[in-house]
Amino acid sequence: MKTYHGDSEITRLHDLGWAYREAMVLGLTNKMGIFTALAGGEMTLEQLSQSCGTKTEATEKLLIACVAMELLKKSEDKYRNSEIGQKYLVRGGELFQGDIIAHSDSVRKLWDEFEKGIFVEPKPEDPSVEHRNFIIGMDNLAAGGRGRIFADCIDLSGRKKLMDVGGGPGSYSIAACKRYPELTATVFDLPETIAIAREVIAREGMADRVSVTEGNWDTDSFGEGNDVVLLSNILHGPISNSDMKLGKAYDSMTAGGAEGGGLLVVQEFLMNDEKTGPLIPALFNIMVGAWSQAELLDVIGKAGFKDARLVSSCEEIGCAWITAVKP
Ligand SMILES: C[S@@+](CC[C@H](N)C(=O)[O-])C[C@H]1O[C@@H](n2cnc3c(N)ncnc32)[C@H](O)[C@@H]1O
Repeated sequence: MKTYHGDSEITRLHDLGWAYREAMVLGLTNKMGIFTALAGGEMTLEQLSQSCGTKTEATEKLLIACVAMELLKKSEDKYRNSEIGQKYLVRGGELFQGDIIAHSDSVRKLWDEFEKGIFVEPKPEDPSVEHRNFIIGMDNLAAGGRGRIFADCIDLSGRKKLMDVGGGPGSYSIAACKRYPELTATVFDLPETIAIAREVIAREGMADRVSVTEGNWDTDSFGEGNDVVLLSNILHGPISNSDMKLGKAYDSMTAGGAEGGGLLVVQEFLMNDEKTGPLIPALFNIMVGAWSQAELLDVIGKAGFKDARLVSSCEEIGCAWITAVKP
């Protein structure tokens, strides 16, 4: 397994852009009274949820993030305050800071008002701009470091046909085809995304090797004869229907033989098996969902793949790459 580091300037910008997530975790857990509930010692998730009157599943996501943010500690299945949590976040403590944290929460809406007033001609909200930001944003991420890690740690020598399911802008298909001259790729995605992928593929001059297919993973198959299937950032934890996507990937792939079977390549935000971090997957888990490493390897194995393994990870940018083969 290779460990990578993110570009420090880009990582800094991303950390600034996403900083509201940690503010939300601190504000919410302060509001729930998590730290005050733990003032007297450690508690399980169930005890804490009961004490704070909160739902267990959502509470666990916040607790994982608090451990990653070093506000809590976890041993076995019990949580306790870290030194900083105990000193500043327990109501009644001499140096309690929870009231000002609650105040910062309640004045957050002033920023929305500030934004509304800043443009001379207010811009109407446009959902297509949001979708474009999302999809081209994936291309930004690939250019900002993930593409380099992919190219460095995934060996596609001798592979001919790659299916990039939910491929978005097609950045990884393009990078793979540029590096491996015998490879062709298909970006499979919803029509509104495929329109953007076409632009990116044309921009990179790769339309002869990277094609597109409009499709929906809920209703369509992923074709046949694929010797590589790429599932990049589409297996986001238990809510993502990972088993369905992996099953369709498996069915679309060439089986093993003398030359070996089809290769599955997965990029994901992965939490550690103790569920104490790292921070970026822990925050992504609250927003969308994330597997732990062991959970995702297990789901991949249950879909019939063999030799599922973590081939690389980069903690600063929160990406991990996994491969497995169809026997
Ligand atoms: C997080 S993006 C990942 C994009 C790309 N794989 C990457 O890593 O850069 C998720 C992608 O899944 C696509 N998607 C969402 N729902 C889909 C569906 N039902 N069928 C096919 N693609 C879908 C989105 O359009 C988007 O491109």
